[in-house]
Amino acid sequence: MGVLTKKVKGAEDILPRDVYKWQFVEDIMKKEAESFGFKEIRTPVFEHTVLFNRSVGETTDVVQKEMYTFDTKGGESITLRPEGTAGAARAYLEHALYNDGLPVKVYYLLTCYRYEKAQAGRQREFHQFGMETYGAPDPKSDAEMICAVANIFNRLGINNINLEINSIGCKNCRKDYTSALKGYFEKHRDVLCPTCLSRLERNPMRILDCKNEACHEVAKKAPTVLEYICSDCSEKFEKVKTFLDIADIDYTVNPTIVRGLDYYTNTVFEFVTDCIGAQSTVCGGGRYDGLIEELGGQPTPSLGFAMGIERLLMVMEAQGIEIPKPSGCDLYIAALGEDAEKKSFRLIKELREASLTAEGDIVGRGLRAQMKYADKIGAKFSMVIGDDDITANKASVKNMETGDKFDVPLDDRFFESFIEKYMANYGRSMKMPTQ
Ligand code: HAM
Repeated sequence: MGVLTKKVKGAEDILPRDVYKWQFVEDIMKKEAESFGFKEIRTPVFEHTVLFNRSVGETTDVVQKEMYTFDTKGGESITLRPEGTAGAARAYLEHALYNDGLPVKVYYLLTCYRYEKAQAGRQREFHQFGMETYGAPDPKSDAEMICAVANIFNRLGINNINLEINSIGCKNCRKDYTSALKGYFEKHRDVLCPTCLSRLERNPMRILDCKNEACHEVAKKAPTVLEYICSDCSEKFEKVKTFLDIADIDYTVNPTIVRGLDYYTNTVFEFVTDCIGAQSTVCGGGRYDGLIEELGGQPTPSLGFAMGIERLLMVMEAQGIEIPKPSGCDLYIAALGEDAEKKSFRLIKELREASLTAEGDIVGRGLRAQMKYADKIGAKFSMVIGDDDITANKASVKNMETGDKFDVPLDDRFFESFIEKYMANYGRSMKMPTQ
C-alpha cells in the first residue's frame, strides 16, 4: 500500500462504525464535568514551544524527546500540544479568566501529540479528556477532582481500576528530596542513560520516570518523596485522604508516583488497571500550585487531571462493557417511478424536519437493491412507494425487525399514522413537523 492510502505511524482513524463509542464516553465525560460546574474550553492544537518547555519542563521526557516541534515560515518555533494543561493555563492568563471569579473550572476534549514508540495504548496522536481548576487551595478540591474521575468510571461501568495517590510536597520540601536522590543516583552513574546523566545535575526527580530499562531498574530502589515532605504538606495530604474517605473512594498510597511532568506540587494521582497491558495508567493528574505564577500570573493554586480516551475504551472492551449502538435510520423510503421518487423526496424532507432519521435512494438503484441497502444500514422501518401507490394514496410500511407490515395514507395523515406505529415500537419524544 502506498503512502497515499496509509496513515502516519502512531495515529489512528476513528471510523464511522466505531465513532458511537467515542460519542458515548465523551458525552458522559462532558455531563459529569458540567455537573461539577466545569465549562468547556477549546484551545489551539499548537502553541509556542516555550510554553511547554516552561510548564511541562525542560528536563522531562515529553520536552526532551517527544514533542512535535517545527519552525514556521515566519521563523517562530511552534509545538503540537503534547497535553492540555499548558494551553488551558495559557488561555486562563491571556483572557484573564480569573476576572470571572475564582475558582475557574474548565474541561476539555482534545488530541495530543507525542513522538513515542507506538504500541497498544501508546500512540503519537491520542485523545485526552481533562479537567482543570484554577484558584482552589483547599485539599478538599483535590478530593473533589478525584471524585469526578471516579464518577466517570462508575457511569461507564468500569471496575477494577485502582486509584493510587501520593504527595510530592512543595518547592521547599523538594530541595531535601532532590539532594537525597542526587546522592542515590550518583552511586549508579554507570548505568544511567545520557539523558539521565544530565538530569542528575539539573533535575534528578525526572530520572524516576525515564522509560529506559536500566534507568527504570535503578529508579525502583530510589528514596521516595513521602519521606521528605514537610509537616504542612503532610497535613494537606492527610486532609485529601480524609475527604476521599468521606466520598467512599478507595485508594492506595503509592510513594513512587511522581508523574512525568514538572509542574506538579503536593497531591499527585493515577488510576491504573491491569487489564490493558503495559500502558496501564488510564488517568493521571494532580495539583500544580506554581504553574500559573511560572507563566507570569498571580500565585494561583491549581489542579487537574487528564484521561486517555483510547486507553479508556481499551479498558471497556477488556471488561466486556457494551456501548449502546445508536438507533440509525428510522425510515427508509424506496421509490419506484418518477412520481414516487418526487413523493418520497418530499416525505423524507418532512420526516427529517420531524427529527427522524430518514433516507431514500440517491444512487439510482432498483427496488431490490434499495431494500438490501435499507437492511444493511439497519433501518427500523422501510416503505416502498410505486406510482400506483400514489394513485391509491397509500403505501405499505414494514417493520424491518419483526417483518410486520401496515398501511399508511400518503396524504396529510401520513405522519400521524406512521408516528403512531413508530412510537408503539420505539417510543421517543419527537417534534411534529410544522403544518
Ligand atoms: P499524562 O499522565 O501525561 O498527564 O497523560 C494523561 C493520560 O493521557 C495518561 O494517563 C494516558 O491515559 C494518556 N496518554 C498519555 N500519553 C499517551 C499516549 N502516547 N498514547 C495514548 N494515551 C496517552 C497529562 O497529560 C497532564 N496534562 C494531566 C493533568 C491535567 N494534570 C493536571 N491537569
